[in-house]
Amino acid sequence: MPTKTPTTKTKEIIKTEPAVKPKKPAAKKVKKAAKKILFVSSEAAPLITTGGLGEVIGALPKNLCKSDKDTDVRVVIPLYEEIAVKFKDILEFVGKIYVDLSWRHQYCGIYTAKAGDVIYYFIDNEYYFKRSGCYGYFDDGERFAFFGKAVLDILEAIDFIPDIIHAHDWQSAIIPVYLRTTYSNKKEFKNIRTVFTVHNIEYQGKFNMSILEDIFDISYEYRSIVEFDGLINLMKGAMVCSDIISTVSPAYAKEIHDYKYAHGLDPVINMYTDKIRGILNGIDTESYNPKTDSKIFANYDSENIDKKAENKLQLQTVLDLPKNNQIPVIAMVTRLVRHKGIDLVIGAMNEIVKLPLQLVVLGNGDREYELQFELFRERFPDKIRVHLGFNPELARRIYAGSDIFLMPSQFEPCGLSQMIAARYGAVPAVRETGGLKDSIVPYDAEKSEGTGFVFTDYSCEGITEVINRAFAAYNDRENWPGLVKRAMEWDFSWEASAKEYIKMYNDLLGI
Ligand code: GLC
Repeated sequence: MPTKTPTTKTKEIIKTEPAVKPKKPAAKKVKKAAKKILFVSSEAAPLITTGGLGEVIGALPKNLCKSDKDTDVRVVIPLYEEIAVKFKDILEFVGKIYVDLSWRHQYCGIYTAKAGDVIYYFIDNEYYFKRSGCYGYFDDGERFAFFGKAVLDILEAIDFIPDIIHAHDWQSAIIPVYLRTTYSNKKEFKNIRTVFTVHNIEYQGKFNMSILEDIFDISYEYRSIVEFDGLINLMKGAMVCSDIISTVSPAYAKEIHDYKYAHGLDPVINMYTDKIRGILNGIDTESYNPKTDSKIFANYDSENIDKKAENKLQLQTVLDLPKNNQIPVIAMVTRLVRHKGIDLVIGAMNEIVKLPLQLVVLGNGDREYELQFELFRERFPDKIRVHLGFNPELARRIYAGSDIFLMPSQFEPCGLSQMIAARYGAVPAVRETGGLKDSIVPYDAEKSEGTGFVFTDYSCEGITEVINRAFAAYNDRENWPGLVKRAMEWDFSWEASAKEYIKMYNDLLGI
């Protein structure tokens, strides 16, 4: 791995790699494809992920290749330190180039790795990316401006001029902007079409207008493209410049037209409503399969849901809760932040604990919420367990061992946990918003229909009411197994979404 430390101050960058000319990964017998799609993202599972974005980037490309053999999907992400260390054995050095970012002349190493049909590229620059985690640095704007330019600058080096660049969230939003501004005269790029996917409109990439030229390398003549509320707003810029703006559920695509959901961007959304699409995410049904999941206590499927009981008893044991198969375990696996509806849960807690149930919470986030949950655990030691932190193994055990999965989000672009929970037979109780609305069908006992409990009113009363409803359904021993079975058998696979994406790409390319 490189040991140089490029700085923004020096023009010449010190480097220790062999001076290899960029070679084409195509030499490794890559299929000849009719359509070339380049995914650009700041995270990708299992390499590095902080949440749903990474999960999508880890799953969607391979499903696109599966769904349409004529599609060559490649993915480019930064080479963060964590990836460089953990995956060093599979990374292959392709070559190096230099990227000019305003007056900076920065080293850019290119690495590659292959996962199934999908080729990954990694942008290496230790000054920007040899840091822990992905984001949260004072210079994130510069880091992702460099990343955006690097992505465009490596295309010739890797011999892959895509038909479509599919950029995700604000960290990649600058790419469609560059294609219309700084790179607008580059004839090799003139046929590249762009799709920009909003995974969460809350995080827009806002920066002071004064750094437009110096940091972002975009001439002031283009300022109106990215300017919003007096600031540089990269997400707004991507919305203006992309051919298609997509988001991760049809309901969220509608909601973001409304100021209550758009975090200020509703005027922009309303202006570009014609190019907005909503496609629901899927989940990796191979990885999230209670029949084969090695992390859970006992494997089961929808034909033998009574085996879930074993998972429940073991979960109660591990968490030191009273072992009782008769009372429902309600679970939350979530970030403890406001828009996940955490304040509603806390506000309704005194009502919730009146019922004979157990509540298990896994997650971390705002310290205030963490403390509140810990206080409740102390007050109700037989009913409440809170595990602060990110623990994927325990998460799977909770999905398998719980009966009801609570997700009362204020907004939820798509949400993955409700789908995973359903697959593990933990019946979702969700607020009717975004992807929650699109993925969970309201339960109707009389018609034996539906896969979960849905409420609309974002209030403590709303959440108390849905929990009471779920509790009553759980105790309706005749109908409950049918509901669990329907939830488990619902098709949450990526196949359907992948087909919709392919259709969207084909429409865009006129094929
Ligand atoms: C974001 C959204 C979440 C969505 C995920 C993947 O994390 O908040 O709802 O599921 O992106 O698209």
